[in-house]
Parts: sequence; C-alpha cells; structure tokens
Amino acid sequence: MSDTAPIEHPAWLTGGDFTEADEPLRLFAAWFAEARRTEAVNPDAMALATVDRDGLPNARMVLLKAFDDQGFVFYTNLDSVKGRELADAPKAALTFYWKSLQRQVRARGSVEPVSKEEADAYFATRSRMARIGAWASKQSAALESRLAFEKAVAVHAAKFAIGDVPRPPNWSGYRVVPQEIEFWQERPFRLHDRIAFTRSTVGAPWRKTRLYP
Ligand SMILES: Cc1cc2nc3c(=O)[nH]c(=O)nc-3n(C[C@H](O)[C@H](O)[C@H](O)COP(=O)(O)O)c2cc1C
Repeated sequence: MSDTAPIEHPAWLTGGDFTEADEPLRLFAAWFAEARRTEAVNPDAMALATVDRDGLPNARMVLLKAFDDQGFVFYTNLDSVKGRELADAPKAALTFYWKSLQRQVRARGSVEPVSKEEADAYFATRSRMARIGAWASKQSAALESRLAFEKAVAVHAAKFAIGDVPRPPNWSGYRVVPQEIEFWQERPFRLHDRIAFTRSTVGAPWRKTRLYP
C-alpha cells in the first residue's frame, strides 16, 4: 500500500450522475473545466442580466475571469450602462450556455465590487493594447465615428508610451455572489435534468432541489 491515499472523487464527478452533486461550486468547476476542453470559443462567456431604474431588464455577454465560493467575477467600465445599473440595483443574474455539452448554468444574487488589489492584479495580466483600450473607451457612450475611437486609442498610447499602463479609476470588477445556482443538462426527447441550489447567505448550507425540465 502506498503512503499517499488516492484522491477520492465523488461518483458524479467521474462520469456518474451530476444530479447526485451536493456542492454547486464544485459542480460548476467540473462543468467549466469540461467546457474549456470542448467549447470552440469563449467557454468563459456568460450573459449578465441587470435591471435599470424602471425595472426593465438588460442583458449582455461578459467574460468570467474568476470564481470561487464567494462568487463569479467579471470586469468592465464602471460608467457603462451595466455599471450604472449595478450602482442603482446591485443584483444580477448570469447564464452560461455550453453548446458542445448541451449544458446551461444559471446563477443569481447580489453584486459586490472587487477590491482595488484584485482589480489591479487582473488588469496587469491584460495585454498592453487592452489596457490602453480600457482608457480610450467611454464604454456605452455615443461614439461619433470609428476614427474618433482610434484617435483616442492613439492619444492614450502616446500618453503611456513610457512605463506601465495603470488601471483606469473607472475600470474594475464585480463579483456576483450567488444565492441560487441551477444546472441544466439536455437529455433526449426534452426530458432534461435540472437541479437547483439555494442558500440564504454566503456560508449558509446549500439546499438542493430537483426541478421538472
Ligand atoms: C463574448 C463577449 C464577451 C464580452 N465580455 C465583456 C466583458 O468581459 N466586459 C465588458 O465590459 N464587456 C464585454 N463584452 C461586451 C458587452 O457585451 C457589452 O457590449 C458592453 O459591456 C456594454 O454593455 P452595457 O452598455 O450594457 O454596459 C463582451 C461581449 C461579448 C460578445
């Protein structure tokens, strides 16, 4: 017998029935890892839904840049439409759809800004041009022409020609802290599998429910 015990993987993780899972972030990690292997483009793309002041929903795609038990992180311009909507109503819903796996994951909950340190650390991993673009884009504001944007990029490229490109003060990340996470797997004849997890607060135990498709 060897000194190191083999790592015990639950059956649902090793090809068994995912509806046996009892910890949604672990199941998300397993599905996301699989999507990264199978999805042709942007396995990290997720629809982000917010609401405006009139309660009118708004959805757009963003990229998942980090996740853990605390939540799902994306980055954006804080003065954009989504940034303003989240300032007014800091709640959101996320939807992933991985076509190659015929799987959907939905999550919703409250939204918190990430720390300056976390945003700085992620910003530093972006390419120089993407960092300059973050300065040049007044995301969601009216733009008179493509040329005007290219000029703004050139102006900021010149401004930051020497040295580092710091993170713009209006560019940062948000963490969607899930209260609900739902997993959906397509099955033949539309007899799909769905399980939903809910918790009252972060740190509270997850409650699992199987749902009709
Ligand atoms: C696949 C994909 C990924 C995107 N990722 C982001 C992102 O991570 N952050 C972001 O601000 N916009 C991202 N966008 C652009 C947004 O969908 C949206 O156009 C932009 O953020 C402005 O949205 P708003 O006016 O509602 O604020 C992405 C678009 C696509 C299609």
